[in-house]
Amino acid sequence: MCRPARCRLQTFFRYSGILQRGFSNWRSSSSISNNPLVMAISTVSAEKEAVLNSDELTQTTQRPVQVAKRLEKFKTTIFTQMSQLAIKHGAINLGQGFPNFDGPEFVKAAAIQAINDGKNQYARGYGVPDLNSAIAERFEKDTGLSINPEKEVTVTSGCTEAIAAAILGLINPGDEVILFAPFYDSYEATLSMAGAKIKAITLKPPDFAVPIKELKAALTKQTRAILINTPHNPTGKMFSREELNVIASICIENDLLAFTDEVYDKLAFEMDHISMASLPGMYDRTVTMNSLGKTFSLTGWKIGWAIAPPHLTWGVRQAHSFLTFATCTPMQWAAAAALKAPESYYEELKRDYMAKKEILVEGLKAVGFKVFPSSGTYFVVVDHTPFGRKDDVDFCEYLIKQVGVVAIPTSVFYLNPEEGKNLVRFTFCKDEDTLKSAVERMKQKLRRP
Ligand SMILES: Cc1ncc(COP(=O)(O)O)c(C=O)c1O
Repeated sequence: MCRPARCRLQTFFRYSGILQRGFSNWRSSSSISNNPLVMAISTVSAEKEAVLNSDELTQTTQRPVQVAKRLEKFKTTIFTQMSQLAIKHGAINLGQGFPNFDGPEFVKAAAIQAINDGKNQYARGYGVPDLNSAIAERFEKDTGLSINPEKEVTVTSGCTEAIAAAILGLINPGDEVILFAPFYDSYEATLSMAGAKIKAITLKPPDFAVPIKELKAALTKQTRAILINTPHNPTGKMFSREELNVIASICIENDLLAFTDEVYDKLAFEMDHISMASLPGMYDRTVTMNSLGKTFSLTGWKIGWAIAPPHLTWGVRQAHSFLTFATCTPMQWAAAAALKAPESYYEELKRDYMAKKEILVEGLKAVGFKVFPSSGTYFVVVDHTPFGRKDDVDFCEYLIKQVGVVAIPTSVFYLNPEEGKNLVRFTFCKDEDTLKSAVERMKQKLRRP
């Protein structure tokens, strides 16, 4: 089944010829590393890899493409394609959420040191001891909860693998999992791989508040878990203490698990981040997932972790053992060094991002968008309808081709794409000059009808 918004995107990409050329270049090029498209693909994997659509693959393989039923519905993902289009049209990429600046020197130096020290063979499956301890210490500083690094921390290949390990390790086929739309796309795909049934509760603008009645009405005897993401991609919403308390009491009353994706916990601007695990009665039923990528501007390293009580860690580790077994050894040592950073590192990171956010948000307002408040993450969502385009996909096509700026259509974050048709997402994880240039282009070229 092809969802309308995604189909239009595929048509757009097919028409632009980008994917087809990229793929055939990739297969025929004798110098892969010099191919700009391949370079683009290799540098932007954090949010999602390109998945070529079935027509394009058929043209190059001469055999019908095949995919297991559980993944059939997932069509082309758009993040990398948008980055490729940015190259083709010379557009400034405020689409995909990866910084265009490097991570800290002390962390890179720790990785080089680890490689030179010969820390290059398989790591212990659930993490090198120093990293497990550093994660536990950081978690205690952040939440006040003292945990056992050996029994309650599992190091994974990015938060994406922590999500997969938690879902595959703890959810049975037929179980229902409640999540909040718009949502990070790996949740749906991984739940689908686990054979779980997804119940999506939509968070609506302007405040993207949790509709408690709807949430309660979605519960059935099959409900096994609620998955939250705070601070939230794509909206920048942070779940309030009141909302978290309600979700927590629903979990406790109905004996549900909570999966909580907190990769943007250090990018909390308007309020303090609250970990679901820290609420009374919740640690015992919560898997907290996080990673190094956003906090240390090292999205390509893919070092993540899952924190859970021992009885849940068992399931997470069983899945992790057979997904990847272990994660890149020298990067784990460097991650341990990163997590020992002084508090001043986090304060500076936040200050830096607040300045970037100000440039983008004020710029978008001046351009004429309705900008929704973003309390955390490095994303901001706007209503594009003042510019008279048909929907979010149409607006993003126009923005790339006519204005030279990339944004992400939010319809791809919903089970029902219609719900996202008025909204697009911009990121401010770019240097200040890039943000200012993007705003300038929009001021000059973006026209109301
Ligand atoms: C909400 C959310 N969770 C998880 C991830 C993936 O994290 P990682 O790169 O550590 O796998 C992302 C990346 O964009 C994200 O936005």
